[in-house]
Amino acid sequence: MVKETKKPTSKKKTASKTASKKAPAKKPAKKPAVTARKKVTPKTPSVEAMLDNSNLRPTSFTEISRVHKSAMTAGRSSMVVTGSRHGEGTTILAHMLALRSAESGKKTLLIDLNMRNSFLTSLMGKESTGWALAGRTQEDTLEDLIHVSEENPNLYFMPAPSDDMSVRFLRDTQRARYFLDVLERQFDHVVVDTTPVTALNRFNVDSAMLGGAATRTTLVILSGKTPLDAIKKSVKILQDAGANLDGVVMNDWQSPSWKERLFKLIRPLQDRMPGLYNWLQHKIVHSKELEY
Ligand SMILES: Nc1ncnc2c1ncn2[C@@H]1O[C@H](COP(=O)(O)OP(=O)(O)OP(=O)(O)O)[C@@H](O)[C@H]1O
Ligand SMILES: [Mg+2]
Repeated sequence: MVKETKKPTSKKKTASKTASKKAPAKKPAKKPAVTARKKVTPKTPSVEAMLDNSNLRPTSFTEISRVHKSAMTAGRSSMVVTGSRHGEGTTILAHMLALRSAESGKKTLLIDLNMRNSFLTSLMGKESTGWALAGRTQEDTLEDLIHVSEENPNLYFMPAPSDDMSVRFLRDTQRARYFLDVLERQFDHVVVDTTPVTALNRFNVDSAMLGGAATRTTLVILSGKTPLDAIKKSVKILQDAGANLDGVVMNDWQSPSWKERLFKLIRPLQDRMPGLYNWLQHKIVHSKELEY
């Protein structure tokens, strides 16, 4: 499904990466971690279940794990996931990264910050809710907005905000930084699903600005579809906003890799010749030649 590409090598990016490594330790937590579990999400599928039951079929879990490993190895961190244009797989990737992170034992918060298309909120079986950020005190841990997954106690979810006031509140880099800071103190990983960088975010939080406030930003590119100029423009916007763009993720959904094509080819063998099917599947999964 996805594969990583080489990281962009512009000077600015390198500088921001270095800066992020040397970044001073965040202020110690004033409030204890979120423990309240008032609301419980309906069953959130595991990565395996989601892949089995939908048309989402990355070549292997190795791929999402590899992306996860390189994107989210640092300590406590926030990751903004964005795309160049709509429908490139931003939400799918944010969801899968958060699931993988939770499955690896990290206390993970997934946030829907796309008011235009709150697909993630629906996927998680929730509804948008008023965040009322402007009226909150500095001690507020936002726990009333956070739902814990019934399936995975490490996975938490914050549905999209329904109030324009909160979106306006987050249009300021300092305030966005503070918002993420509050959450980073409570979770190992905070993953934010956002709108595309090049979209007119008149009624939405600006993903580039949010990227500037987060620890890291990942840009999703739809392989064979996203035009080069859109990618270049997105990278520039993100860098100008001070985002720590740690790399891009190619979503191969509409241009299947050789591995995916071969999986499709051997699928009829699954019931008739399970032994052969499993052997072939193993070979395909572990083949380095078929990697790209
Ligand atoms: N890797 C994938 N495998 C299967 N389907 C995919 C994949 N990536 C994207 N899709 C399909 O494309 C649709 C759009 O994906 P997604 O919602 O993640 O895009 P988006 O970039 O978040 O869009 P928007 O900017 O409008 O929120 C999904 O509903 C899903 O059906
Ligand atoms: Mg989306």
